[in-house]
Amino acid sequence: MSNFYYPKKEMFKDPQFSSMDEYRAVVEDFNEDYEGTWAQLANAKIDWFKPFTKILNEDEAPFYKWFEDGELNVAYQCIDRHLKDKKNKAAIIFEGDNGDQEVITYRELAYKVSQTANMFKDNFNIKKGDRVVIYMPMIPQAAIVMLACAKIGAIHSVVFGGFSAEALRDRIIDASAKLVVTADGAFRKGKPYMLKPVVDEALKVGCESVQKVCVIERNNEDIHWEPNRDYSYNELIKSQSSFCKSEHMNAEDPLFLLYTSGSTGKPKGVQHSSAGYILWAQLTMEWVFDIKDNDTFWCTADVGWITGHTYIVYGPLAAGATTVMFEGVPTFPDAGRCWKMVEEYRINQFYTAPTAIRLLHKMGANEPKKYDLSSLRILGTVGEPIDPPAWKWYYEVVGNSNCSIVDTYWQTETGGHMISPLPAATPIKPACATFALPGIEAKVIETDGTLTPTGEKGFMCITKPWPSMIRTIWNDPERFKKSYFGDCKVNGKPVYFTGDGAMVDEDGYITITGRTDDVINVSGHRMGTAEVEAAIKKHDNVAAVAVVGKPHDIKGEGIFAYVVLKSDDGIADELEIIKEINTMIKTEIGAIALCDDVAFVPDLPKTRSGKIMRRILRSIAKNEPITQDISTLEDPTIVAKIEAIINS
Ligand code: PRX
Repeated sequence: MSNFYYPKKEMFKDPQFSSMDEYRAVVEDFNEDYEGTWAQLANAKIDWFKPFTKILNEDEAPFYKWFEDGELNVAYQCIDRHLKDKKNKAAIIFEGDNGDQEVITYRELAYKVSQTANMFKDNFNIKKGDRVVIYMPMIPQAAIVMLACAKIGAIHSVVFGGFSAEALRDRIIDASAKLVVTADGAFRKGKPYMLKPVVDEALKVGCESVQKVCVIERNNEDIHWEPNRDYSYNELIKSQSSFCKSEHMNAEDPLFLLYTSGSTGKPKGVQHSSAGYILWAQLTMEWVFDIKDNDTFWCTADVGWITGHTYIVYGPLAAGATTVMFEGVPTFPDAGRCWKMVEEYRINQFYTAPTAIRLLHKMGANEPKKYDLSSLRILGTVGEPIDPPAWKWYYEVVGNSNCSIVDTYWQTETGGHMISPLPAATPIKPACATFALPGIEAKVIETDGTLTPTGEKGFMCITKPWPSMIRTIWNDPERFKKSYFGDCKVNGKPVYFTGDGAMVDEDGYITITGRTDDVINVSGHRMGTAEVEAAIKKHDNVAAVAVVGKPHDIKGEGIFAYVVLKSDDGIADELEIIKEINTMIKTEIGAIALCDDVAFVPDLPKTRSGKIMRRILRSIAKNEPITQDISTLEDPTIVAKIEAIINS
């Protein structure tokens, strides 16, 4: 049993779960009365404007509905209801790239959100159900704008600020957004960078739905102002009233869309509901992060990803906590930046991605020792598997062997954590997500629903609907069914398949083994190989391309592209083409999808029906022996030829 790490009980006061018996008792409640237990939690946690009478509606499965006749407002749940007893409490603590600080209390947040909501209604004619695209840096206004949308029932779609104009345009068009909210730019590593020019570029073609652009002036660099389209947030906000009524929203009204990658070239607009989503965001703050009244919580994600939505904005605020937002990068001005902030703000829960942990470990293994990190109680990781050495450093050096590490497994589609240790209860095995949270029926199964034997890889499925699950893919309900409910069945009924493989060990612990589809995970960012391939194919001289993931020391996975050229004039030409390919990727997607390796090959390994055998390419990229049968390939000799090129 030496590989277990037990929670330090003295670190926790009144945790939600203080033992595995308590965990099992709540699991038992769900086993006995699944819907009733959810209903109890929903009644206890949400301030309903109108209580629900129906719990789960499965009539149109897999389009499940939860609490469908209830009414609430998510911004009210996150802010207004706290004004009774927390109005002077810090809601958001912001630290800018250059160290500037701002503390926003719950009362101030209520004012700012109301002013912004009024601006959206008065100046931009935004109504319930309209889509608002948010393309923003990590500044408090990003959260304020999201909450203002929630306040008036507009559906926001935050697009990560690292995406290119093309990627932004695709998302604006798919959502038929009426308003784009952006900033002139922001600061990174001590220097200004720009966002508004990317919006200008995106809006040049095909974005007729967009009527107005609202610009937050953050770095005050010169930008183009399009007459009758672009308006300054900083100016308009001055004349807005700081009271705005919260729109009564139905439990199932969409709260937001968030685009994520799938196995085709087109990103999916994951649609989340209001009540189910906020219930789970709040509950997981309490269960997994043991959030307490005087805690200060810091999640280092970007609001452009689901982690930022659920664990910077909605979860912490619904729980009435203090959430930290950071504009900069963890390595500027040095690799001690995060630890300095933990010391200064007395952070209790620190939540980040394995990529950041590996980077901080590599760049400053001893940096944490220079700071007082004794406020830390829980260290979280998310987004990709964490390797044991990174886990150990995080545990021993950052956490001083006192903190619980919660390796949280979840996805954009699940809204919040699915599998995670409970910090004061679960004996932890390094780099293991451990157990499904109460209420979540996470099972490792075969496609026919039989349980995968212990120690073998199976499909990670959630076999019962849960409140915070994806409701549909915007504009594409068929794709929703096919993507998530097409592969695995239990008793003949389709169940939610995550796209991940997983394994249960002899102690019942679940370890995630990675994606089973053509999705790769670069620095915790989910990337469809088809998207990257589509970008590379736009190069005039590219005849064919296949992209696979390859293990990377820091990023977890890097992108490896096999490219077949139409004509090849030698090395000089190839170097130029690699540059052009990467420029193409930057234009089509953004710098997050740049290739680490590009190999020029005479052809790709294809079956006789023309399907590219990516598994072979993955093995070659990893320098692993090829175990697949290559005799069925259209040209079996191609494998040796590619290997020779890679090894030369
Ligand atoms: O492959 C899993 C991986 O990240 C994917 C979800 O990516 P995304 O929707 O962008 O959300 C990331 C933040 C929740 C999953 O399908 N993943 C997420 N968490 C873990 C993980 N892989 C291993 N361990 C985790 N803790």
